[in-house]
Amino acid sequence: ESSTEVDVSAIAPGQAIKAVFRKQPVFIRNLTPTEIEEANKVDVSSLRDPQTLAERTKEGHENWLITMGVCTHLGCVPMGAAEGEVKGEYGGYFCPCHGSHYDTAARIRKGPAPKNLLVPDYAFTSDTVVKIG
Ligand code: FES
Repeated sequence: ESSTEVDVSAIAPGQAIKAVFRKQPVFIRNLTPTEIEEANKVDVSSLRDPQTLAERTKEGHENWLITMGVCTHLGCVPMGAAEGEVKGEYGGYFCPCHGSHYDTAARIRKGPAPKNLLVPDYAFTSDTVVKIG
């Protein structure tokens, strides 16, 4: 299977883009310090799918949240990765199909989805280029 290389240098803090990996959407988001703080202050043991932000990002690149843009309920594409889209009650992503709300670490917080948005295999090949897959 092929991998996808994405130049993230133009994504400002607070912005996200949608890329495509293996024909599925991937969200690449540059978290603001406030979004990182919100993700880190959550009591992880209270989560449906307990993971820290650090477990969902790469060391030294904790501001880059890279997840599949596929709701873990029934596979809709959540909103929140494009300018002006609603981000849901927890400031991350919102799946309008059945109302799943994901937080700023793309962890499921409310609604029917069972799991956090999936983090694909990826690596930074430089400070500004991510190789997914
Ligand atoms: Fe997202 Fe059902 S597919 S909430």
